[in-house]
Amino acid sequence: MSVSDKREQWGSRVGFILAAAGSAVGLGNIWRFPYLVGMNGGAAFVVVYVILAVTVGLTVMLAEFCIGRASQKGSVGAFKALAQNKFWRVFGWLGLLIGGFVILSYYGVIAGWTVKYMAGSLTGLMGRAASGGGADYLGAFLADSKSVVAYQVTAMALTVAIVAGGVGKGIEKSCKYLMPGLFIVLLILIARSLTLPGAEAGLAFYLKPDFSKLSGKVVIDALGQGFFSLSLGMGIMITYGSYISKGEKLPKCAAFVFVLDTMAAFLAGLAIFPALFAMGMEPSQGVGLTFVTLPGVFAQMPAGAFFSFLFFLLLFLAAMTSMMSLLEVAVTFFIDEFKMGRVKAALAAGTAITILGIPSACSLSGRLNVFGMSFFDFMDYISNNIMMPINAIGICIFAGWAWTESLQKEITNSGLIQFRMQPLWVMAVKVLAPMAIAVILASGA
Ligand code: PFF
Repeated sequence: MSVSDKREQWGSRVGFILAAAGSAVGLGNIWRFPYLVGMNGGAAFVVVYVILAVTVGLTVMLAEFCIGRASQKGSVGAFKALAQNKFWRVFGWLGLLIGGFVILSYYGVIAGWTVKYMAGSLTGLMGRAASGGGADYLGAFLADSKSVVAYQVTAMALTVAIVAGGVGKGIEKSCKYLMPGLFIVLLILIARSLTLPGAEAGLAFYLKPDFSKLSGKVVIDALGQGFFSLSLGMGIMITYGSYISKGEKLPKCAAFVFVLDTMAAFLAGLAIFPALFAMGMEPSQGVGLTFVTLPGVFAQMPAGAFFSFLFFLLLFLAAMTSMMSLLEVAVTFFIDEFKMGRVKAALAAGTAITILGIPSACSLSGRLNVFGMSFFDFMDYISNNIMMPINAIGICIFAGWAWTESLQKEITNSGLIQFRMQPLWVMAVKVLAPMAIAVILASGA
């Protein structure tokens, strides 16, 4: 396959929005958001999350779209094309490293779990979970590294196959089906959850804020979750932005992606908390909420195996559309910088990333520790708590201070459209967002 001179573009606005929302809506919304809500006291966390996602998250997303579309390049190429001072290129490379390699390497492992749990829902998970053996079920699976790797490879191979199909025909087309599918599954689960006797207590926990639960940790967790969930600070939205047509209104695109992402997280909570409380389970389980507590909830429900299967299918679909975007960061890099064909680039990047993920997959059995944590947790920690905030600050400072005129030109399509919030947004890019992120970074260190 040869690389044609004309850069690919999204086929339509709806297609792009669904692909970008597909990137944003992932394990972060359905697995991470609910357990953070559970651990941070419920509705107060939800309120803080929304405020920070609107102010900081949306600000950074728009800046990334501008950088991508102006340069017509992925994370690395963008800074090379736009920045006069070579120093800024560091952030392009960091984006590629975080999004394309580090995060996808372990994200593919959890995507593999969802496949295992889909199959398990129909073959024995329910029986184990009903008698309180959910944690043992997960433990036994994780101890069998070969099986964890086999599921990881399955999820990665599927992602490679779709991304190899191209931006329009592969990613956009599959997201057009997967995203509506995901929302339909969520709605079915919500209907089930809300009609269980005793669901009201869960609704109150989730929706009635008790601000006495607010703390520094709540705010910091909410900000970190905003970045994770909106796929920011890791080259993804720069890469996706590079395929947006010049006539598109970027603020409108960002607003759509933001609303879909926040809605997906909100709906996931609405599916989980009423059922959790109805079954008398604890919401503050932490990371085990999805893989240990929820099967216990499903096991007690009529037709539990079906709903459990549906839930893990949902999680799998969400993970797939996010993995495509993470892989696309590396694939765009190989295409732009080495003029490689797309299929070859997808295969090369996919293989390298899968191999990089194997230590994470094996470390879950407790055999591979670094700095006192499993290799999996280590990859998650360095990417989310260190590299991503540094990169997001770099992107804001570059866009707001070094590239400010072009930034304003890009957001208005060279003066052809008006963006009413422009002065406020520019201030947010320059000052508010980098300062807020610096706080997470400092507190995580
Ligand atoms: N935003 C997606 C999610 O919430 O799962 C995918 C993702 C991208 C997650 C980048 C984490 C991440 F660092």
